Amino acid sequence: MSTLTNAQKLPETFTNFKPSIKVASPGRINLIGEHTDYNNGFVMPTAIDKKIYFEFKENETDSTCRIYSVTYNAYLEFDHNNLSISEKSWENYVLGVTNEIKVLGKSLKGFDCIIKSDLSTGAGISSSAALECGFASGLNALFDLGLSKVEITQLSQKAEHNFVGNKCGIMDQYASVMSKQDHIILLDCESLHAEYIPADFKSCKLLLLNTNVSHNLADSEYNTRRQECEAAVEVIQKKYPEVKSLRDVNLEMLEEFKAQLEGKQYQRARYVIEENERVINATTAIKAGKLNEFGELMYGSHDGLQHNYEVSCPELDFLVEFSRDKDYIYGSRMMGGGFGGCTINLIEADKIDEYVAEAAEAYFKKFNIKLDTIAVSPSEGTIVEKL
Ligand code: GLA
Repeated sequence: MSTLTNAQKLPETFTNFKPSIKVASPGRINLIGEHTDYNNGFVMPTAIDKKIYFEFKENETDSTCRIYSVTYNAYLEFDHNNLSISEKSWENYVLGVTNEIKVLGKSLKGFDCIIKSDLSTGAGISSSAALECGFASGLNALFDLGLSKVEITQLSQKAEHNFVGNKCGIMDQYASVMSKQDHIILLDCESLHAEYIPADFKSCKLLLLNTNVSHNLADSEYNTRRQECEAAVEVIQKKYPEVKSLRDVNLEMLEEFKAQLEGKQYQRARYVIEENERVINATTAIKAGKLNEFGELMYGSHDGLQHNYEVSCPELDFLVEFSRDKDYIYGSRMMGGGFGGCTINLIEADKIDEYVAEAAEAYFKKFNIKLDTIAVSPSEGTIVEKL
């Protein structure tokens, strides 16, 4: 496996590339419901209009796979009969997906693939899921593997567990593949039942503010949070064997175990139970057009993530605080795994420019870091085109 330097020449196949499959694979936002997916709870994501683009074609070999990332000027070549974890993080997404396809007993041949991205990494808009799911969707079409869309999301999640080492939930992959234009998804992560809700925010828009920080605690703390939740469930199961996840626990039940739960398990579980309730309430508020109510739930979500789940960081907290006294901002919260990335804000569209200028100046003054905005609109999931 090699990373291209400018001095190296790309294999001939990449000059004058004639693809037979094209894929556009989007990133995602999440309106509310953070760290609930791996607890079998509820989330409210949708795909966005920022994507990773793939082109695929079969090559003349049985098992040589050649991948060129234009965006990173990086080249990867591997044999799909001989896969192992790489030291380079991005390579593990494609190697992991290839591996999971093989685990399912599907047969592949040699192929070439070009990848271009307009999704920023580290911003919490899930470039990882876009890479995994787009790659899986491309191979599915190229080799007629017969995988359903849901199977693509599930094998991509497994790739992230087994090759990348991040024990993520299903939200990002599901949103990237299954979203519908101009809708948000109320996803039940236990049954994978999805309700598509029109993304109607009246005169408001969803605005992402990118802190441009990505603290390296993110991966290890993510897996720790998951373990803390699972440990809490194990304790509760001793009395209530029917409990399979925090999804099945309410606050009253949780109180019974307060003394028995160790370390931070109680406060982690409490956050998850409350966040699930907020997602359900947010659904009602959005359907009724009550943006104020929805906005308050966003703030509630942030408070829980900051104080009980402890996955926020000073930069995210600063931006959420900065929005609180602005009556044209209905809600604001950190989005995604945490420890950096973006806040998501529900803001009157005609106030965006003014607010961004003010927030960027204050943010720079405080942290000496440039604030970026990412304009997003709820979009269609993965699009596969056969040429
Ligand atoms: C990351 C994970 C998701 C989800 C979020 C937090 O994006 O990939 O599965 O857990 O964090 O809500």
